[in-house]
Amino acid sequence: MVEINSLLHAGYHNPVQRPWQIERTLTKNALMYPIFITDEKDSLIPIPSMPNQYRIGINRLEAFIRPLVAKGLRAVMLFGVPNDSVKDELGTAADDPEGPVILAVKLLKSKFPDLLVSCDVCLCEYTSHGHCGHLNSDHTINNEASVKRLAEVAVNYAKAGADNVAPSDMMDGRMRAIKQGLLEAGLSHRVSLTAYSAKYASALYGPFRDAACSGAKFGDRSAYQLPPGSRGLGRRAIERDVSEGADIIMVKPAMFYLDIIRDAKEIASNYPIAAYQVSGEYAMIHHAAAAGVFDLKTAVLESMVGLQRAGCNLILTYFTPELLEWLD
Ligand code: PBG
Ligand code: ZN
Repeated sequence: MVEINSLLHAGYHNPVQRPWQIERTLTKNALMYPIFITDEKDSLIPIPSMPNQYRIGINRLEAFIRPLVAKGLRAVMLFGVPNDSVKDELGTAADDPEGPVILAVKLLKSKFPDLLVSCDVCLCEYTSHGHCGHLNSDHTINNEASVKRLAEVAVNYAKAGADNVAPSDMMDGRMRAIKQGLLEAGLSHRVSLTAYSAKYASALYGPFRDAACSGAKFGDRSAYQLPPGSRGLGRRAIERDVSEGADIIMVKPAMFYLDIIRDAKEIASNYPIAAYQVSGEYAMIHHAAAAGVFDLKTAVLESMVGLQRAGCNLILTYFTPELLEWLD
């Protein structure tokens, strides 16, 4: 005897009904494309650890982005890749007015005024030691000095025209400092703040660190990025960043952290939730598809609906160019 309420097939047998069962439908405006801007102005350099991704020189940027905007790209996140020669202990080059990020913001906003330009804010690409903040002489983090510097950098990106700033450094109290800085600069009405709240110390950042040349020269980031097994710290970081003025809450990485995305949706239920499908997730899916494990498009689309089902509104993914094709 079949239980009358055990019959599920009828609800999705007909293809017209399937979308009715889905929490959110993936659209192009849910995507943000993370891109790398090198200070080698004329270069377009393939990134070996991230198939189909490039370090883009400022003189190649317009031609790179234009076809994507034509296909419906709405938002990008910028990462600067400066030369080793400009790196110092303090990350002075992070907001160099002639540096890759500020030049890219200005160029993108002048050529594509409707494209939302977000800047990742961190010091690891610009410090000689490769850590995300300033260090004390015993190599521990100097949180206060780091926060002050990060807020300065964020405000300078905003002044250059960025629509959103997204600090990925994981220092304590940086949201408040940045929001305050934006307020004092008269920019708080037009520049939003994305909190990389629940950012875990993940093995999945490996390809990115190759791409951005931003790995730590000694030690690791586990004193500031969250321990992967901790749910409590993720939840507390989300609560804290909401209380410090974040406009968007992010969870990173994405696919190993679906429970945290759900937590974010519940804790910050009145805020957009972003999930960052990071470089290692990208590489993993890409290489698995290349090895015949699964079909690339099917797997990527499934990863997207998984993230949406967990509760996110916005997805940062290196698959954005493919998705802009597939979503037509
Ligand atoms: C820099 C930063 C990292 C990522 C985004 N911003 C690397 C890190 O924290 O070491 C990772 C993104 C990715 O792997 O795609 N703080
Ligand atoms: Zn960093």
